[in-house]
Amino acid sequence: MKKLIALLPLCCLLLWQACSNDKTCATQPLNPNGDSELALLMRQMFEDGERVRTQIQKGEVVSIQVDFDKIMTAKATDPAKMQGPEFPHFAASYVEAMKALRDATPAEAQDKYTAMVATCMNCHEQSCPGPIVRIKKLL
Ligand code: HEC
Repeated sequence: MKKLIALLPLCCLLLWQACSNDKTCATQPLNPNGDSELALLMRQMFEDGERVRTQIQKGEVVSIQVDFDKIMTAKATDPAKMQGPEFPHFAASYVEAMKALRDATPAEAQDKYTAMVATCMNCHEQSCPGPIVRIKKLL
């Protein structure tokens, strides 16, 4: 325990150093080669999902901000992830689910939202399992 406490200032210092230059902290790509269009879109999809979840929790009317149609055309870091017959199929189910959520009445919104997150999961189970833990947080 003592050791942990001793490490705390070090962690703070590292964190502070990493974030003291706010601009690089916010825009630094996670991927050394720069983030792909698809990866950036996915992050927007995730953030928009969190926002919509809060709207539903508050009983507000849902508003979609992310340009979800782009999933059909955005370029991935590894184009192999988008090859194969499943990708367009999963992408189309996601787009359909987003449209249903966008048009949902407040009473329907929660079900449509859960169905939408399921379409994220379906594609990720097939093509890119890494972010699944994060996506589950949307539920
Ligand atoms: C049609 C398939 C598909 C669907 C649907 C899909 N994803 Fe993704 N997702 C991918 C692929 C492929 C990548 C890898 C992108 C890359 O590295 O270029 C990815 C990457 C991600 C990442 C990591 C991005 C990063 O920071 O590098 C997150 C987070 C993510 N997706 C969340 C979501 C969420 C949330 C949804 C639903 C709202 C969703 N995904 C729906 C295929 C999909």
